[in-house]
Amino acid sequence: MITVLVANPKGGCGKTTIATNLAAAFANGGLRTALADADRQRSSLYWLKLRPSTVPRILGLEWIKGDPKPPKGIDRLVIDCPAGLRPWRFRRFVARVDVVVIPVLPSPFDERTAERFVKRILRNKAIRRRRAAVGLVRNRVRARSRAADHLEIATTGMDVPDVGEIRDRALYLEVASNGLGIFDLPTPRIETVQADWYPLLRYIETAGWRGSANE
Ligand SMILES: Nc1ncnc2c1ncn2[C@@H]1O[C@H](COP(=O)(O)OP(=O)(O)OP(=O)(O)O)[C@@H](O)[C@H]1O
Ligand SMILES: [Mg+2]
Repeated sequence: MITVLVANPKGGCGKTTIATNLAAAFANGGLRTALADADRQRSSLYWLKLRPSTVPRILGLEWIKGDPKPPKGIDRLVIDCPAGLRPWRFRRFVARVDVVVIPVLPSPFDERTAERFVKRILRNKAIRRRRAAVGLVRNRVRARSRAADHLEIATTGMDVPDVGEIRDRALYLEVASNGLGIFDLPTPRIETVQADWYPLLRYIETAGWRGSANE
């Protein structure tokens, strides 16, 4: 199993969007997928409730309280973190992850939060012991904008790999309101949107398997 934690203390940077779309991508790839919601807002669980039975199934887990255990018989586990995760809960989650994905928006405030968060993660003992991979994803990027260029320069100096950009698309909200991710849609229609996710998906597969091999 590969466990992916989607986290960033900054609210609204795209954690749930990335967690749900990753889960949909894995499920559509034929992998047994679980999506754990650690946020009291329960957005990922709500998304799962809306999910039609005609698309590949994703197991929903409510990880809002306590110290939940990962389920058995799962290939990919995606954890959607809340913005304000208590430090002790955060330490428990990172103790068993293979890949941490940090979405970051093109804004100086978001860049600053991400930079501090990366430093905090890299100091974490469990992350170091497990040699978990940590990657930044630039989210809601608008082509040829100054903010996008600034963000790309900022992430290059952040000590963890920049694993690509997800462009700003109204489609994400549209599909989310039907319990879908973009990998649930027929490819020819939205090939270029799905292509944004390939570097991140490749990173998770490569880094995740390396992580599992260290156990
Ligand atoms: N690439 C994108 N293109 C367009 N809209 C996006 C994109 N990513 C996220 N959004 C939108 O931005 C808003 C916030 O996204 P999301 O809920 O995923 O953030 P979050 O980090 O989970 O927020 P919170 O910290 O409250 O949990 C949502 O309305 C979502 O649809
Ligand atoms: Mg969220």
